[in-house]
Amino acid sequence: MTQKVRKAVIPAAGLGTRFLPATKALAKEMLPIVDKPTLQFILEEALKSGIEDILVVTNKAKRSIEDHFDSNFELEYNLKEKEKNDLLKLVDEATAIRLHFIRQSYPRGLGDAVLQAKAFVGNEPFVVMLGDDLMDITNPNAVPLTKQLMDDYEKTHASTIAVMPVPHEEVSAYGVIAPQGEGINGLYSVDTFVEKPAPDEAPSDLAIIGRYLLTPEIFAILENQAPGAGNEIQLTDAIDTLNKTQRVFAREFKGDRYDVGDKFGFMKTSIDYALQHPQVKDDLKQYLIELGKKLDDTK
Ligand code: G1P
Repeated sequence: MTQKVRKAVIPAAGLGTRFLPATKALAKEMLPIVDKPTLQFILEEALKSGIEDILVVTNKAKRSIEDHFDSNFELEYNLKEKEKNDLLKLVDEATAIRLHFIRQSYPRGLGDAVLQAKAFVGNEPFVVMLGDDLMDITNPNAVPLTKQLMDDYEKTHASTIAVMPVPHEEVSAYGVIAPQGEGINGLYSVDTFVEKPAPDEAPSDLAIIGRYLLTPEIFAILENQAPGAGNEIQLTDAIDTLNKTQRVFAREFKGDRYDVGDKFGFMKTSIDYALQHPQVKDDLKQYLIELGKKLDDTK
């Protein structure tokens, strides 16, 4: 019998060095896209997919995450007194989620961060959602990628990893799959999973994009996983081992992926999201048109 997927793990213990100095005291997951922390988009995807419990793997520098998703009595009281009900609703949304926290004591890599979730997950299938990848945030009608993986699991009862084609010269920033054949309706059987291959050694341009549905057998593998790329314990290496004893599929994502782990990606995400935001979209559109003209003139 297939077990229902109920739990998600969100690794958020990275040091955020790409966004220094902003991330010296603030968790990078709290950096906002217009007015919403990136982590809140991930939590919304989880909720929309039907996930019930979420474990966030943090470290000692990530107190701002726990505070954000706790209630803030002073603020709520103040907003209530001033009858700012629309703002109150936005603040409430952050706390309407069942969250658990655990710390990763040493930055040993993504595989080790996921291993911290072993007791929380128990013997159930679960999803892993990486905070640097936001999916379809400007398309509220899209089926969330996490939900797509959960639907696949209902049919296959197997671990399934989300992938997407990336430009060939960028493959070394990702885990990459060697697919078997063409795939059926975007679902691939996989020969191997390789973390951060050099472009001339990459088995394809299909990159892992931060959403994983895993069976609990991954934990026994992670416990014995030797460090790999970057001398870190890599989740991709453990998935490759899992694939040798039980099938692991790859699901090709056809929607819009926003990479907020990178400065330029973060800027593009902010602009795309702002262009849909009721409070700023008209002004931003106007500004971009004027900016376009100015840039044309300086050509
Ligand atoms: C991690 C994973 C990698 C995956 C990527 C997606 O890498 O290790 O397999 O392709 O996320 O964003 P990181 O970006 O943490 O280096």
